[in-house]
Amino acid sequence: MSQVARSSADTTVLGIETSCDDTAAAVVVGGRDVASSVVSSQVDLHAVYGGVVPELAGRAHLELLSPVVRLALADAGLSTGSAGRVPDAVAATVGPGLIGSLLVGVSEAKALALAWDVPFVGVNHLEGHLFAALLDHPGLEWPVVVLLVSGGHTLLVSMEGPGRYRRLGATLDDAAGEAFDKVARFLGLGYPGGPAIERAAEAGDPTAFAFPRALLDEGLDLSFSGLKTAVVRAVRARPDATNEDVAASFQRAVVDVLVAKVMRGAQDIGAQGVCLAGGVAANGPLREAVVGASVELGIPAYLPSRAMCTDNAAMVAAAGWWQLGAVGATSLEAGADPNLGLPLLG
Ligand code: KG4
Ligand code: ZN
Repeated sequence: MSQVARSSADTTVLGIETSCDDTAAAVVVGGRDVASSVVSSQVDLHAVYGGVVPELAGRAHLELLSPVVRLALADAGLSTGSAGRVPDAVAATVGPGLIGSLLVGVSEAKALALAWDVPFVGVNHLEGHLFAALLDHPGLEWPVVVLLVSGGHTLLVSMEGPGRYRRLGATLDDAAGEAFDKVARFLGLGYPGGPAIERAAEAGDPTAFAFPRALLDEGLDLSFSGLKTAVVRAVRARPDATNEDVAASFQRAVVDVLVAKVMRGAQDIGAQGVCLAGGVAANGPLREAVVGASVELGIPAYLPSRAMCTDNAAMVAAAGWWQLGAVGATSLEAGADPNLGLPLLG
């Protein structure tokens, strides 16, 4: 194989993301210039079931991925190979995620890498989310504390540089996004829950209910299952309560805890800044609260654009570019791992 052993400033990486319910492809140059980013959401497909149906997701990825990849290549001025320039490497999410969905992206990426005779890079989805913050803020100084809040994960890490992560805290039960999704389903607000709660909350009173802020003043771990139970109890006790007030009060409780944890983490380790990553980081009130606290404490906040918070392939291409340079290509024999964790320093 005539593969580039290391990545450089003009190395062009095609990223592919199919770990859950978004089919995405993107081209990123030099690890930070996003030449194209295409995300085809399956929200409508799963909404009727109130959540992601793994079998349907896998089948939809199969149908959508090739056109999404073609579009991302065309948008970046690249081609599929018969004529014209192809990417220098292909990166795909290898986990964590739904195994049937992951395999669609990994197989496509390996096939393209083989056909183009370029390296394949298997990317950790969680690491991809961490790179999303860097895409928009390439000049930030280390270490930064990153709060990764997605549908399946809630993790507070100290990032000392690309590939160097130390665990500061994590949820003891539900992920933050999972809490948004469960409360939205309970209130009949639909799927995905985060944006639905945020919309409903705009017309609500965040002080209408005094929901618990678990572990607010204790350490850096988090817990959301009690909050979800408190919402259910409160609504049953007050059937006249509006969805707007419940959503606003719930959202405020989650935001209060998330902001307290990320800022405390940053103070504890003397971080140069704080970052948000993952789907919940698209939440407007959370973003505002983190910016407010960061000004108050004099710790810079680096927020990825909303589009880079939720699942996308630009973050996969960016992480893949770095990995290719620092670690090298991934074997075509390597598989997907639905339970892959973020690689942490001892
Ligand atoms: O990172 P992501 O797109 O996929 C995973 O890797 O899980 O995160 C999806 C999660 C879902 O739980 C969704 O409800 C939540 O992020 N989310 C939000 C918002 N947008 C997406 N939560 C709160 N506010 C939002 N605006
Ligand atoms: Zn994600």
